[in-house]
Amino acid sequence: MKKRSWAEPWKIKMVEPLRMTSRAERERALAEAGYNTFLLRSEDVYIDLLTDSGTSAMSDRQWSALMLGDESYAGSRNYYDLEQAMSDVYGFAEFIPTHQGRGAEFLLSQLMIKPGQFVPGNMYFTTTRYHQELAGGQFVDVIIDEAHNPTSTFPFKGNVCLKKLQHLIDEQGTDKIAYLSLETNVNMAGGQPCSMENIKATCELCHQHDIPVFLDATRCVENAWFIKQREAGWNDRSVVEIVRDICNLTDGCTMSGKKDSLVNTGGFLAVNDIKLAEEARNLLVCHEGLHTYGGMAGRDMAAMAVGMHESIEEDHIRSRVGQVQYLGEKLMDAGIPIVQPIGGHGVYLDAAAFLDHLPRDEFPAQTLAAALYLDCGLRTMERGAVSAGRDAEGHNIFPKLELVRLTIPRRVYTQAHMDVTAESVLAVWEHRRAVTGLRMTYEPVRLRFFQAFFSPLVGCTVLPVDTSPEVVAN
Ligand code: F0G
Repeated sequence: MKKRSWAEPWKIKMVEPLRMTSRAERERALAEAGYNTFLLRSEDVYIDLLTDSGTSAMSDRQWSALMLGDESYAGSRNYYDLEQAMSDVYGFAEFIPTHQGRGAEFLLSQLMIKPGQFVPGNMYFTTTRYHQELAGGQFVDVIIDEAHNPTSTFPFKGNVCLKKLQHLIDEQGTDKIAYLSLETNVNMAGGQPCSMENIKATCELCHQHDIPVFLDATRCVENAWFIKQREAGWNDRSVVEIVRDICNLTDGCTMSGKKDSLVNTGGFLAVNDIKLAEEARNLLVCHEGLHTYGGMAGRDMAAMAVGMHESIEEDHIRSRVGQVQYLGEKLMDAGIPIVQPIGGHGVYLDAAAFLDHLPRDEFPAQTLAAALYLDCGLRTMERGAVSAGRDAEGHNIFPKLELVRLTIPRRVYTQAHMDVTAESVLAVWEHRRAVTGLRMTYEPVRLRFFQAFFSPLVGCTVLPVDTSPEVVAN
């Protein structure tokens, strides 16, 4: 049968107008934002690929559910609906709602980590590691080496290296290990999945040593899709069955509902151990809110319950990941260095290769994100040395991966937006040798990437050439 083009399983009912800006306006906005894309005003942005977090377009069913928000302080109907949805999709026994993912990370870290303990994980995530350290723990990276190599095409670059994990257990003993933090579709590695085989083997090894495994289920649905596509023996199983299979192997999860679950805010902690759940609820009431809302409004919980069910519809997840693949393939075909294989929630430019004339302490990824904004108002995010922060001795960490993430919000942009994005990256690529670096002029103590300021090292811009597009009707 002849292969046909596919399109999204939805049509557009409402639009949000975007403002087009001139190069002079963008130069001014970027300088005011200290060359940090987090500090730009969104109205100065044309295509916003900063993050897929809380940026999804909700469905008409979700918007309708919003109107059925039960804003009672205690025992809201929407809490019970969301608890049921979590149980249907993820299958854990105990459900603790939080305002977003990091609220759940705070609870888990505070309850499970004793000062001085290690927390092995398949690559760090910024807020996750922050909360582990706040609780007195130390993160240890046990991801496979391929994950640190942008050109490796290994299909499961999120996998845990069992040797590294065994080595940590042998060296430190199980008492010194709080738990294993297992992220699905590893964000900082480029949206790379773990295989079911590896998840099984990792959980088996941990459980043999009485080490609990907590999942970061933030993009578990996307991971399940990759298992279905890439791992032998899983193609006949539905995405939701695979999500359940993953969760069944673990002891609980933290979750940012702002990603897979298609909502603008919300999250949760879910565990199987009733005693741990009880302690989490006790802590929850001090920091987030009562245990039947945990920082969310009733309407937020209502929208999330619907979004959670929509997230596991196969047509949805096919088109969501398919759009990311479309952009990634366009860039790869043009010879742009990107992390391979193409990830689930975004395309990651290898900034160290893209701007290979810049030394690492001139922050090539931060610089590239700034240059991309200047071209046509495309907003992206640095995921390199600025995000990695400093080590215990106060030295800058220079991770192997120096990346710029083009993160695709769910159900928001069209194929034409993806084409314009690819053209913008290509325009900067063509003038890459003219790009000059940045230095940091203000550095916040915690999670510095969010609010740091930079200034150009040469002249007053990082991209001296005006690459502004001349827009033509096709
Ligand atoms: N875990 C992962 C893997 C994440 O990607 C995020 C957020 C969190 C936890 C924290 O969740 O934002 O709801 O508190 N990632 C966003 C991003 C910020 O842009 O990648 P949160």
